[in-house]
Amino acid sequence: TADTSLSDKLLSWYDRHHRELPWRVTPRESLTGKRADPYHIWLSEVMLQQTTVQAVKPYFLKFLAKWPTVGDLAAAPSEDIMAAWAGLGYYARARNLKKCAETVAKEHDGMFPDTEEGLRALPGIGDYTSAAVAAIAFNRPAAVMDGNVERVISRLYAISDPLPGSKPLMKARVKELTPLGRPGDFAQAMMDLGATICTPKRPACALCPFNADCLALKAHDPEHFPVKAAK
Ligand code: ADE
Repeated sequence: TADTSLSDKLLSWYDRHHRELPWRVTPRESLTGKRADPYHIWLSEVMLQQTTVQAVKPYFLKFLAKWPTVGDLAAAPSEDIMAAWAGLGYYARARNLKKCAETVAKEHDGMFPDTEEGLRALPGIGDYTSAAVAAIAFNRPAAVMDGNVERVISRLYAISDPLPGSKPLMKARVKELTPLGRPGDFAQAMMDLGATICTPKRPACALCPFNADCLALKAHDPEHFPVKAAK
């Protein structure tokens, strides 16, 4: 890994400023010995993909109260899952939820695979979810990319190529920054930074752990990034 001082800055910011979220054990295993439950991480990441943290919280808690284990969710009638999901939107996610839970329950003895590739092979799990669960639940150094992370990384390095073509470059940068010791905390720290400090408009650069390093800030134009392809 290229520059551990950047990930160190981000992680010490995260240790002080992380959001308390019901699916999180923070800081994680590497520091506290506490383990995140892969079922909780998977469920929360599927819900968080197209929905905000605030909207997800009550649904996450409701699902866990109804279906405490992945086996319980696998055995639930589809109508009950769809009814519990109502209001979250993007209903394909709810249909895939049951399929994935069934596969984990029946083919994996109720245990989620612990690698990015193994997770990627489950129904309804794409690049984002496999990377997020591998990093957060299993401390694998997977590069977790979402809109928040793209904004942070494109500003930090002033990436001038437009999205979506710049995605592979951004992913390579994130991969190189990801610390082997705390990849799950790093991924969540990037998401928290993007959601709370490195916002699309009027980012709070004075509070940012990367403010001495950020090339977009140096150029006095963070809001210019990420650059998007002309429509
Ligand atoms: N958005 C998606 N996953 C998240 C997570 N684990 N923490 C914060 N925001 C998120």
